[in-house]
Amino acid sequence: MRSVTKNNITETFLSYMAEDTSPRVGFLLERLAHHLHAFARETELTHAEWRKGIELLTRAGEMTDAERNEFVLFSDVLGLSSLVDMISSREGSTSSSVLGPFHILGAPELPYGGDLKQGNDGATVIVSGKVSNQRGDGIAGAEIELWQTADNGLYSNQDETQPDYNLRCRLRTDDQGRLLFTTVRPAPYTVPDDGPVGELLHATGRHPWRPSHLHFIITADGYRTLVTEIFPDDDPYLDADAVFGVREDLLVAYVECADNSAVPAGLDAAGRLTTPYFTVDLDFVLADR
Ligand code: BEZ
Ligand code: FE
Repeated sequence: MRSVTKNNITETFLSYMAEDTSPRVGFLLERLAHHLHAFARETELTHAEWRKGIELLTRAGEMTDAERNEFVLFSDVLGLSSLVDMISSREGSTSSSVLGPFHILGAPELPYGGDLKQGNDGATVIVSGKVSNQRGDGIAGAEIELWQTADNGLYSNQDETQPDYNLRCRLRTDDQGRLLFTTVRPAPYTVPDDGPVGELLHATGRHPWRPSHLHFIITADGYRTLVTEIFPDDDPYLDADAVFGVREDLLVAYVECADNSAVPAGLDAAGRLTTPYFTVDLDFVLADR
């Protein structure tokens, strides 16, 4: 095309694609070009604004390494990561929610009823619950991976004062699909805001806080893997999560208990519980594969 115009540039872009381009790649690029070009036309994007955007992305690239991915963080605070989660969620199963950057492989196993809290400061939480399928049957032997912050709002891989793999574990449901363990109540924390993503947040008057949460990855043969988070229903940041991870079905009550009447059988920490502690009941529903 020799006479490219504002109005035919999208079609021109498409006409340059080879006939044998994979249909999905062709479709995604066609839609991307359509929205990108429409965005520039609609906003009458200036050179200075274009340069600012490129400069932010360039600095995101410079900051990105194996430990920190500023591009994923852009996707998180722009709501794209959560949108992809919601698109791939199946109705009738537990909502998925962001994986985040603090998951690491190799967490140790915790037996049924085990104590993940150990020497951590903070309030004890007894977590009980069930992993079921969409027909309501418990799923025996489902693997649950859990990671969370300590009471100071930091993950073990952000905080040199915490032992490796602190507040991280893999556990399995029992023969009825039930889960049981004790841990510490997690704390709200901020996503990293010392880079270009922070500039974007601050430029629009947004804060970097996330409500406190427990992260889970749940896998079981024959079912779709669930990556999700569970939030206390009274957290002050529920309505302003910097990364849009909150869903109604992921809210649970942390019920405060002042005596030992709520201690379930089979809890390792039963004899060492100090009051008050909290109980949380989690019900996860996995979608069929
Ligand atoms: C997290 O929950 O660990 C997280 C998610 C997105 C961005 C930063 C942190
Ligand atoms: Fe997190």
